[in-house]
Amino acid sequence: MTLKELYELTDNMLCAARVENHRFDTDCLFEDILGADRVTLMLNGGNEVPEPDADRLMEAAEKRCSGEPLQYILGTWEFYGRKFCVGEGVLIPRPDTEVLAEKVLEHFKSVGNYSPEICDLCSGTGCIAVTLKKEMPKATVHAVELSSEAMPYLIKNIRLNEADVKIIKGDVTDGRLLENFADPDDIGEYRKIDCIVSNPPYLTDKEMEELSREVKHEPELALRGGADGLKFYRTISCLWGEILKSGGLLAFEIGWEQGAAVKEILEKSGYKNVTVYKDYAGNDRVVTGIK
Ligand SMILES: C[S@@+](CC[C@H](N)C(=O)[O-])C[C@H]1O[C@@H](n2cnc3c(N)ncnc32)[C@H](O)[C@@H]1O
Repeated sequence: MTLKELYELTDNMLCAARVENHRFDTDCLFEDILGADRVTLMLNGGNEVPEPDADRLMEAAEKRCSGEPLQYILGTWEFYGRKFCVGEGVLIPRPDTEVLAEKVLEHFKSVGNYSPEICDLCSGTGCIAVTLKKEMPKATVHAVELSSEAMPYLIKNIRLNEADVKIIKGDVTDGRLLENFADPDDIGEYRKIDCIVSNPPYLTDKEMEELSREVKHEPELALRGGADGLKFYRTISCLWGEILKSGGLLAFEIGWEQGAAVKEILEKSGYKNVTVYKDYAGNDRVVTGIK
């Protein structure tokens, strides 16, 4: 089969399987598996594709047709201009989350602190923690994650990006994790840090029932945020606020309908200057507050 014939076959398969943006996905699979971009296709479309290559391409196309996310098939995805390994067991980094990283960076730039200590809760691939460390090399960054399935990706991505991020494995709703921040000079007290940032699971029970077939492939632990989706915001703002300096930043990613509710949670917990920011599509996406 020629390169052009294989391209048409793949794209038709994806289109028939109702893959949204099927042409984009076909392009990505061709580039990743055959190293063939649009230009190669135009110039060498009549070339025969070796059978093992065509088989690999077909195998990937079938996975995509069955609803497996493109990112899992490719094995890597980009976040804030850097590559992150992804696969079954870890949430795929979303462009909206870049807004959260951006707001944290803007904050520290505006206060002139280039070496803050930051804790990224519910770290997943580590896309937030790694980005903050790479953009602020003098920062001390901790990444907290519970999932044993996500952990290998977190480790791999820290290495891949050569970012000195410190990993803490555990449950962010368990107060014992704060012992990692015990003050060596003051028994029973915590060392205070500059920022808690988190993109926690925030889908409601109802939203969990209505997931697209792609999102259904992503881990439930990364998505489900309790009946009203707000469980992690309540716990984190209260529990982890204990290790936040006065004047420190709490920054959350939120679901697009959660702006008012999360703002209220932070204000009731005593945070000041609580602000809701929008994502690139104009939806509420980030809430920040100052302790
Ligand atoms: C929405 S994902 C965010 C992942 C990553 N920070 C990002 O922005 O792409 C939430 C992450 O929280 C982790 N998680 C869920 N419950 C947790 C808990 N109780 N303690 C720590 N991590 C948890 C999940 O495994 C998942 O990796």
